[in-house]
Amino acid sequence: MSDKRKSSRATSQSDPSTLDRRSFMGSALGAAASIGAVASTGLGAAAPAAAQAPGPMSSDMLDRYVPTPKEGKKPQLFRAEITISDVEVDGKIPSDLKGAFYRTGPDAQYPLAPGNIPFDGEGHVSMFEFENGRVNFKSRFVRNERYVAQEKAGKILFPMYRNPYLDDPSVKGKSRGTHNTHIIHHNGVLLALKEDSPPAAMDLRTLETLDPVYRFNGQLESQTFTAHPKTDSETGNMVAFGYEAKGFATDDVNVFEYTPKGKKVWDAWVKVPYVGMLHDFAVTQHYIVLYVIPLAYDAEQIKRGGIHWSWNNGQPTYFGFFRRGGDGKDIRWIKGPERSSTHVLGCFDDGKRLVVDCEMSAYNPFPFMPMRDGSRWDPVRGASRMTRLSVDLSKKTPKDYGIEVLYQNLIGALPRQDDRYNTMPYKIGFLPCPDPDPKDPGKRPSSCYARMDHSTKSVQIYRGEEDVTLAEACFAPRSKSAPEGSGYLMGVASHAKENGRCDLVILDAEHVDQGPVATVRLPTKIAGQIHGWWVPEADLPPKKA
Ligand SMILES: [Fe+2]
Repeated sequence: MSDKRKSSRATSQSDPSTLDRRSFMGSALGAAASIGAVASTGLGAAAPAAAQAPGPMSSDMLDRYVPTPKEGKKPQLFRAEITISDVEVDGKIPSDLKGAFYRTGPDAQYPLAPGNIPFDGEGHVSMFEFENGRVNFKSRFVRNERYVAQEKAGKILFPMYRNPYLDDPSVKGKSRGTHNTHIIHHNGVLLALKEDSPPAAMDLRTLETLDPVYRFNGQLESQTFTAHPKTDSETGNMVAFGYEAKGFATDDVNVFEYTPKGKKVWDAWVKVPYVGMLHDFAVTQHYIVLYVIPLAYDAEQIKRGGIHWSWNNGQPTYFGFFRRGGDGKDIRWIKGPERSSTHVLGCFDDGKRLVVDCEMSAYNPFPFMPMRDGSRWDPVRGASRMTRLSVDLSKKTPKDYGIEVLYQNLIGALPRQDDRYNTMPYKIGFLPCPDPDPKDPGKRPSSCYARMDHSTKSVQIYRGEEDVTLAEACFAPRSKSAPEGSGYLMGVASHAKENGRCDLVILDAEHVDQGPVATVRLPTKIAGQIHGWWVPEADLPPKKA
């Protein structure tokens, strides 16, 4: 382990805010990295220490880091549900790391139909369970209505991403949810999420599917449920929303709040300026923020048998905000330039400003999402950077919102924070990002985790082993009352040179530059991941005999 810890490296740097054209070309890695997290590719040997990181990227490095999916190339099916007790560990699992780390991602049950996109695979949930210094691993498909129907038929019945018109007639009325995007716990169950449908509830210990269409005891009015609920930092309530909430392609959004015991205490209905992907949202102590991007519903494409979305070049964004606890009628929509943002890192309001930190690209961040005008996807404009959006609350009718790039050289699309700070001022964030070797620009850039500290604008880097791809990281606090960012950062590293074999890397979240405190060495590849979630032991049910 000591060698491994030497292999990672630290960087404490102020934000280098200038990039030349060549460097900017390489920034497409933001989008590519998010695909890599889904595809779950691989790793290798120790990387040399370097004086600074992350370095600038050339455009050639993009395909070396995570190759853009090639047209006509079918993704490999995995499908193996796995149980392993007492997995081999390098180093020592910290005694205060108690609970379970869950993750979900698409793992196609049958080969995807031509023209479909990798986001449409069935949800495959995995769990690393920490118990007295040991780690048990388990993975299971979500037995939702779609999975069960397809298993019975022995073929795919929902052939196109969010296009119900191509569904097999036998599945009429069934939930289309794949539950492959995010996984959270709430009121004693694990909820697997996909934003076009209600959650599926699973057993936190066995991963058995308990309810394939979970409607919060009949309280969920929306027909959909976001993949990114937030936890109120003071009450512990879950604040969430559904878009296209009154049905396919509708412009209705339902925002709602449930207590930790599952009682709905508030909801509001609003309308969006146009039907675009609302993958995430922001919740401060006083406001709800919705951000509408031009990855927009495409009725013509649906008629042609295509997917739900296309990037509508040139269409403006809309930043919408309204008071929590109200009826939504006070919503203000501020028109802004063409941009994309899919994930929020953190947010707050201080009475004067409403601030949302998110990853943001100039346009379509996904190479596999169609361009409505038929143009070729541009990886430069598709690159994502951590960006601060802000609105001046002192103005009665603000006409614009601020856009400020926070860390110019950090390219990535899957930021995470200490989730105890979802609705309050915060300073610490984590981001998977690439880092090239300046001495060997022809080499595949390293996969890294960056720890950002907004209070000093400094960045600390853990650089993964050579040829590894690191999935989205997840933070586990050292204890319920630990200071912000004090705890562990964990994420799955997959090794390309070992057929995708995976490790779980565990870092001290305050010293990620020192390398792993423990590495859980799985003997196999595992299902891929979009998002992951930590559940502390206190929130887990007792193990059944
Ligand atoms: Fe997401």
